[in-house]
Amino acid sequence: MKIGNIDLGERPVLLAPMEDVTDIGFRLLCRQMGAAMVYSEFVSSDALIRLVNKSLEKLRVCDDERPVAVQIYGKDVDAMREAARIVVDHARPDVLDLNFGCPVKKVAGKGAGAGLLQNVPQMLSIARAVVDAVPGTPVTAKTRLGWDMNHLIIEDLAEQLQDCGIQALTIHGRTRSQMYTGEADWEPIGRVKRNPRIHIPIIGNGDIATPERARECFDRYGVDAIMVGRATFGRPWIFREIRDYLDGKPASTEGIDWKLDVLRQQVLTSVERIDEYRGILHVRRHLAASPLFKGIPNFRETRIRMLRAETVADLFGIMEEIRDILHSSPNSIPPHAEQNNYEL
Ligand SMILES: Cc1cc2nc3c(=O)[nH]c(=O)nc-3n(C[C@H](O)[C@H](O)[C@H](O)COP(=O)(O)O)c2cc1C
Repeated sequence: MKIGNIDLGERPVLLAPMEDVTDIGFRLLCRQMGAAMVYSEFVSSDALIRLVNKSLEKLRVCDDERPVAVQIYGKDVDAMREAARIVVDHARPDVLDLNFGCPVKKVAGKGAGAGLLQNVPQMLSIARAVVDAVPGTPVTAKTRLGWDMNHLIIEDLAEQLQDCGIQALTIHGRTRSQMYTGEADWEPIGRVKRNPRIHIPIIGNGDIATPERARECFDRYGVDAIMVGRATFGRPWIFREIRDYLDGKPASTEGIDWKLDVLRQQVLTSVERIDEYRGILHVRRHLAASPLFKGIPNFRETRIRMLRAETVADLFGIMEEIRDILHSSPNSIPPHAEQNNYEL
């Protein structure tokens, strides 16, 4: 599957953009684990054009993580056009992605993100303006099925975005009104893919948490790629699990020690790239949600301690306790730990 000239291979699995999660360290880790492409968290176009430092920092990418997509959001055509140029100048991303799906009030309520599902002409103007502004960079978009169940517009919208020059479309199988409730509905995603007028790659997203479901999404809905978000929390090796399964290879993810070491590496990378206090804050919530710890007797208390840890020594101390528990009672880990304990 290709986006522009970027070849992502057969049935690629992508890391979803996630605010405060998909920073450079996590993206690198997920690439090492087999993600075919990774996305930055969304960056505000309004902040970028004011050259706000915190937002410019989010544009930092490194060559080892390529191919990488940087995502921007906003409701204003001029700001999005200008922000797109800034992103390309600063980060030279392999792909520039437009966020037309964020449901949270502070974004959608102001007419950006999923708010643009209520103003399609504006969304299309943004798409056209950005495509024109960065001619050497493929521009893609990520959106939802529609604003609510009475406005499931994705089938028409996909064609309209394609006509604007968008080079791939990611569809999260929920409406804005659903936020993250209920189950993602992949049927409309499949219908977009089957539309003979659609020739751009369609990337399906929503609720993929097992290799079996990943394959089903490819087989049943015919999508060109899938994108995984929440299931990566505390389980970055999910990319390897899915990859092995799709490629018909024996599982290469190793035992408890290997997985704990991957999580330790995630902590160290986060701390190295930020600082100890903020680096720990950044990862501990996701670590505590790891499916690796599911089923450990009386884990609640240990989990609370993890969520309160403020130093690497504290966090690693708790992880070593967990290692001992897991080794002394291997039956406490479900053979295929699939769901993490993350709640929005
Ligand atoms: C913590 C969090 C932050 C997110 N931030 C973004 C974002 O910045 N841009 C975006 O397009 N989607 C964002 N999303 C949505 C995800 O990319 C994805 O569409 C959604 O979680 C559904 O996929 P999943 O079921 O695999 O998690 C976010 C989701 C979560 C849970």
